[in-house]
Amino acid sequence: MSKDFKIEMKLFNILKAALVQGQFGVMVEKIWLRFFDKESLISNHENFTWLIDNETKISDFCCCLDKKLWLEIQEHVNIVSKSAKKTLENIPYDLGGGGAYPLLYFIIRLLKPSIVVETGVAAGFSTYAILDALDKNQKGHLYSSDFPYFRLPNPTQYIGIVVPKHLKSRWSLYTKGDYSNLKIISKKVADIDVFHYDSDKSYNGRSSALTALRDHLSSKSWIIIDDIQDNSFFYDLVSKKTCENWRVFHFEGKWVGLIFPD
Ligand SMILES: C[S@@+](CC[C@H](N)C(=O)[O-])C[C@H]1O[C@@H](n2cnc3c(N)ncnc32)[C@H](O)[C@@H]1O
Repeated sequence: MSKDFKIEMKLFNILKAALVQGQFGVMVEKIWLRFFDKESLISNHENFTWLIDNETKISDFCCCLDKKLWLEIQEHVNIVSKSAKKTLENIPYDLGGGGAYPLLYFIIRLLKPSIVVETGVAAGFSTYAILDALDKNQKGHLYSSDFPYFRLPNPTQYIGIVVPKHLKSRWSLYTKGDYSNLKIISKKVADIDVFHYDSDKSYNGRSSALTALRDHLSSKSWIIIDDIQDNSFFYDLVSKKTCENWRVFHFEGKWVGLIFPD
């Protein structure tokens, strides 16, 4: 396939998603959030230096909380990773890598939460890990918010494609974008025990999601935010006095932030 033809197909898929599948509003919102994004308090370079200076190893953090559990889950995390990668071998598109799924798996097994909310599913590494851990706990429900990759043909079919069928009974998936999905999820949940943010990477996207869920997040919630190297949102959040328990981790070339209760 020539390069020009590939570009034409991408544009065709984007137009189709906007006009036929009614996703025009979310596309405009994403462009708006990106172009009129809030200025970070510190530069990207300063943010990056801050991340390096404050890194905690995921394994150190988890072992400190429960070493036996951390060692026990390794086998399950490997199954999730291998099975997801095998499914993706048969898909002709790059659906991106996963969030920090070993950390998520551990947190879900440790806390045995009732309500978990995540934004950003894509192929579903984090979703698979969370659902498998909930299944092992025999407790809890995951509410996920996503928006299809509109550059792909019929993109909805790829959302959570790596998640095995037998895990889906504990899962509610919404695919109309965070702005609309989080309003619906807010009406369905009481207190959120664990919130994983891995969708729109803009400063405004992150801050809008936390605002949308603020009545359901408390000082008891665990909050995990992916790709915090993109801007200083996480730095600004934890620099506020009210937030003392936090960590930053490096995972597969990206940075992940965690806020957790005392
Ligand atoms: C980095 S991927 C998520 C990876 C996933 N957590 C995993 O571990 O495999 C980001 C996802 O967020 C979605 N997304 C981007 N902007 C969004 C928005 N405004 N609302 C909902 N989902 C969005 C993308 O379409 C994509 O599916």
